[in-house]
Amino acid sequence: MASTLRDIILQVKENADIVMIIGQYVPLKKAGSRYLGLCPFHHDRSPSMNVTPQMGIYKCFACGAGGDVLKFVQEYEKLDFIDALKTVAARAGVTIPENILFSKDDEDKSKASQALAANQLACQLYQEELAGNAEVLAYLAGRGISDETRKHFQLGLAPQSSDKLLKRAGAKGIPNQALIDAGILGEAAGGRLYDRFSGRLIFPIWNMSGHVIGFGGRILTAQGAPKDPHQPKYVNSPESPFYHKSKVLYGLNFARNGMDKLGEAVIVEGYMDLLALWQAGIRNAVAVSGTALTKDHVQILSRFARKVFLFLDGDEPGRKAVRRSLEPLLAQGLEVKVPVLPAEEDPDSFARKFGGEKIKELFSQSEDIVGFLLRSAAKPLDAMSPEEKEGLLGDCLALLQTMPSPNVREQYLDELRKKLGLKSIRVHRARPAYPQPASALAAPLVLAKAADAGVEKADTVAVFSGAIPGGRPREEALAEWQLLQLLISSPHASIAALDRVKLEWLQVEIVRDLVDHLLAFVEERASFSVKEFLERLSTEQQDTIGALRILEGMDAEQERRHLNGILFALELRDLYKRLRIETDFAKKIELQKRIHSLQTKSKGGPV
Ligand code: UTP
Ligand code: MN
Repeated sequence: MASTLRDIILQVKENADIVMIIGQYVPLKKAGSRYLGLCPFHHDRSPSMNVTPQMGIYKCFACGAGGDVLKFVQEYEKLDFIDALKTVAARAGVTIPENILFSKDDEDKSKASQALAANQLACQLYQEELAGNAEVLAYLAGRGISDETRKHFQLGLAPQSSDKLLKRAGAKGIPNQALIDAGILGEAAGGRLYDRFSGRLIFPIWNMSGHVIGFGGRILTAQGAPKDPHQPKYVNSPESPFYHKSKVLYGLNFARNGMDKLGEAVIVEGYMDLLALWQAGIRNAVAVSGTALTKDHVQILSRFARKVFLFLDGDEPGRKAVRRSLEPLLAQGLEVKVPVLPAEEDPDSFARKFGGEKIKELFSQSEDIVGFLLRSAAKPLDAMSPEEKEGLLGDCLALLQTMPSPNVREQYLDELRKKLGLKSIRVHRARPAYPQPASALAAPLVLAKAADAGVEKADTVAVFSGAIPGGRPREEALAEWQLLQLLISSPHASIAALDRVKLEWLQVEIVRDLVDHLLAFVEERASFSVKEFLERLSTEQQDTIGALRILEGMDAEQERRHLNGILFALELRDLYKRLRIETDFAKKIELQKRIHSLQTKSKGGPV
């Protein structure tokens, strides 16, 4: 039986003993049905990391790090996903077939590997084209790009017509469809194929392991030629199963060693900036390539570096881009430094004019986060009124609040206080960004969410600490949480619930979304595994599920009764709600009948 990567991942996760594996890195102590240990992803003083073997996940409630056993090994050992999978597979005694890689399904897999082959082929052809084009070589030389750099970064030139590419692909047995899937070829009306990058200077984009996953193509305009407003300066490969703009950092495959060695990373905006830095001997830089810096980007960087230089353009848009990038970096606990470029320079021009030593000097004189925030203010500090300062302070505090370490935050707050000339900073309701490890559960988070939904604390504790309240759930929103709790606890109940739950009964948005997801998942495979389900969810959703207590020790009959009780409460609430808003008299009567019959049925034994 051919297995997909997906099957392998599941098999590894099912067989891996998460407590044993994480326990090899971090001592774990049993606490109820969970395990506690010092979190290795921040400077943890008291154990904040929970490991829940029933769900196969770990979660640090101080810094927010969390995920499954694969994620842990990946982050701890700084591996890419496939290598982490191999490591854990070996410890779990699962053999990975030779030919498994890259994509989640067999069909997708062969498609993806053909598209990757198409990328590789195009990359090669483009490099040859450039090597034979004196004019474009002269353009690069004019911009200070050496032959060595050009070759290292595999720069290329896309021919005007797609003939050569099609011919070469044909000879190698790569179907046109693979070139289309890779986004190299576009299909014009009438089925004509054209090269998306035609006539452009090509920057291949790699994943962490060095496979070409896409391209950026820069327009080449003759000097002084009027810019064609219909032609964008850069064209990029479209998103594909292996190219996600929000996750790719250009140049990471080359920079990862440098970053790891220094513990520092440099973020620049564009391809040319990165090339110029490389030439100047700065080899720990990545480019966001014109997209906003995302949480995913930052998470990747944090595997290699603790400190990040945001080296963007010196002008106002550049400073705005710095401002936008701060939050994800700070929230990840990274130290942020902002080198100050003259307004008319970008890293490319600066590196070429002044060279590597000057750049290092610039880095050593970088602003810290407070310095940057204050200097970016609309006015100099001494020209500000107390009210204006208060506004500025509010902005700064909002950002500093996202820092996971209270100690680091405190030091920056102190710097801020001094610079603003205040005796003390008074904060109303200062709240840490993440719930503190008050208990082994993410209780504060859940309690806050439940409170939003109008549920009493005592009832919430019942759901999140495992006790099933006797009798029927009284509180409306509580029944929704109980439904979710039951569904993730019991594959049996989740199948039984399939055609009985109506989504419109659910009013707590996050619960409704999760139940919706979960039921679709069960429907698709006629079974349920919480580990497999978690894999499909966003981090926030995983957190929500992770905080729920798994119900244990109920027999099938108890589960059935619990489910019936919950569904009864939900349906009844729905009927009453409709009764309240119904204006048609006949329909009101109809609804009342249904309420009556539901109540009678529930009294008269099994529903
Ligand atoms: P820049 O305009 O600064 O380009 O955009 P550059 O790389 O410095 O190129 P030169 O120096 O003008 O030749 C920064 C980055 O934003 C993305 C590209 O990744 C570029 O490197 N970008 C820019 C686009 O994706 N599309 C565009 O139209 C423009
Ligand atoms: Mn530039």
